[in-house]
Amino acid sequence: MTPTPTHLTLANGVQMPLLGFGVYRSSPEETVQAVSTALADGYRLIDTAAAYGNEAQVGEALRRSGVARDEVFVTTKLWISDYGHDEALHGFDRSMRKLGLDKLDLYLLHQPMPTEWERTVAAWKAAGQLLESGRTRAIGVSNFSTELLGDLIDRTGIVPHVNQVEVHPFFTQPELQATHRRVGIATQTWSPIGGVMRYFSDDPETAQSPLSHPVVTALAEKHGRTPAQIVLRWHLEHGFSAIPKSVRAERIAENFDVFGFSLSAEEVAAIDALDTGVRSGPNPADINTSKYKLTIAD
Ligand SMILES: NC(=O)c1ccc[n+]([C@@H]2O[C@H](COP(=O)([O-])OP(=O)(O)OC[C@H]3O[C@@H](n4cnc5c(N)ncnc54)[C@H](OP(=O)(O)O)[C@@H]3O)[C@@H](O)[C@H]2O)c1
Repeated sequence: MTPTPTHLTLANGVQMPLLGFGVYRSSPEETVQAVSTALADGYRLIDTAAAYGNEAQVGEALRRSGVARDEVFVTTKLWISDYGHDEALHGFDRSMRKLGLDKLDLYLLHQPMPTEWERTVAAWKAAGQLLESGRTRAIGVSNFSTELLGDLIDRTGIVPHVNQVEVHPFFTQPELQATHRRVGIATQTWSPIGGVMRYFSDDPETAQSPLSHPVVTALAEKHGRTPAQIVLRWHLEHGFSAIPKSVRAERIAENFDVFGFSLSAEEVAAIDALDTGVRSGPNPADINTSKYKLTIAD
């Protein structure tokens, strides 16, 4: 079997691990242990955000781990309350202080704000300056559509290295993937095993999950793998960088153990066919500072 690539190369040549570890909805109390376990298991990409309230705990786990700083790819995100040029630079400094880092690997604008677009563009220009000055090795966005990516690039001339978006077997965003390939943007996939379908459901009892779909469970049976491993392997076959989250040691290990098998083109296509075209997370067009009141404390 040809060895599976473990990294992808961003447009500026920076190497980013394909499989990372997310900490959204990991409480501060759980985060040090979860990230420590992930680093011990071999994960080398940690995805946090100012809005998750656990940057300090991610930083603590990094320091405790003994893993060399340059071996771990750290991502954090600017929250919308800090959009605007000077506000964004301040938000970056605050995140770095909480993480306890001098240099970041990837800085993302957490959401587009179509109704506060000038502030979004100003924040993106600030991110460009952070890249230029070497304070972060790469920059990107999250939850941007083809249209908003186009306008952002037209306005600033700065192409994001990454767009981090909701992707799992029930929501695959093929048109956006085509945009990413055309423009040279890496796709990073959040809720890769469908977490959002459960935690944003009004009724968790009836919430659907790709992990219990018969196509996925049949492939799990066939390969002697778990449904989560089948779905994460599907992301890798597509060349996506996936960032599953768990606070349970056995699942953290399970989700990283996906490099020793592969899916055929037909098996990948069978999972592709599960797409419903319906997102489970919030519609990015609806996000603005009037609706989302969170602000980030210094
Ligand atoms: N940019 C954005 O707007 C955005 C939005 C959402 C998420 N994200 C990022 O993406 C990361 C992952 O997304 P996510 O946390 O929404 O969803 P996810 O990784 O698809 O799913 C996480 C959920 O699945 C459970 N789980 C984990 N491994 C499992 C396994 N092997 N079998 C069964 N269940 C399993 C977890 O519970 P336990 O913890 O109890 O194991 C948790 O409830 C986040 O942590 C965050 O870093 C970004």
